[in-house]
Amino acid sequence: MTTFYAHRGASTMCPENTMAAFRQALREKADGIEIDVQLSKDGEAVVIHDETVDRTTDGTGAVKDMTVLELKQLDAGSWYNQACKEETIPLLEEVLKWISRTDLKLNIELKTDREPYPGIEQVVIDAVKRHELKERVVLSSFNLETLRRVREISQSVSIAVLVWDNVDGIVKCARHLGADAIHARPGFMHTAESLRAEAAGLPIRLYTINEPEDLKGIAPGFIDAVFTDSPARLRRALGGAVG
Ligand code: G3P
Ligand code: MG
Repeated sequence: MTTFYAHRGASTMCPENTMAAFRQALREKADGIEIDVQLSKDGEAVVIHDETVDRTTDGTGAVKDMTVLELKQLDAGSWYNQACKEETIPLLEEVLKWISRTDLKLNIELKTDREPYPGIEQVVIDAVKRHELKERVVLSSFNLETLRRVREISQSVSIAVLVWDNVDGIVKCARHLGADAIHARPGFMHTAESLRAEAAGLPIRLYTINEPEDLKGIAPGFIDAVFTDSPARLRRALGGAVG
């Protein structure tokens, strides 16, 4: 049975990476949510996709240069719809607290591909452990060094290697890291690496799947999960096609 993760929450219906988008994902009966995490100036994990607040809030500047107090004053909903102006940038803590009252799975993407955010791995792992959510959480990153640090800190937390371009040898690398899954774009399925992942018993989860055509030519049985902006719509559109 394919798992449906709401990508940045149910981000078609609500502003991405906000509590509104996460609540909407639950209403749409997603199995889990995917969130992006960066570090504030005062070292708190905050949920936002970009390294700056410019695109998804009414502020400007780098997340790493702003304190949580400053970040929390921003309006993270109006850019999407005036009716969402009460939305703020969620703290990872808020999301974990909320998610522990649900059955949702949680994919936390550590956004260290542009900013190194020293210490982010420990902050995130400590928070997940504090909320006793380890069994439901998978940590992912495009940055292999981040994943190596995660594995150093915790041998038991689930980790996934995020693949943008199809890099030869990524499966070997994932195995070396002790990764539990590969998160890739659909094109990955047409490479030899996908067969290697299967042979290595590494589940493949695909992003970002919004239309049935995005899965064209891919045998449903191969896909462990999909990340989608519209869980309800995609599930309806796929019917039984993804198992
Ligand atoms: O984790 C899958 C996907 O979220 C990775 O890309 O840019 O949407 O964070 P992005
Ligand atoms: Mg992401």
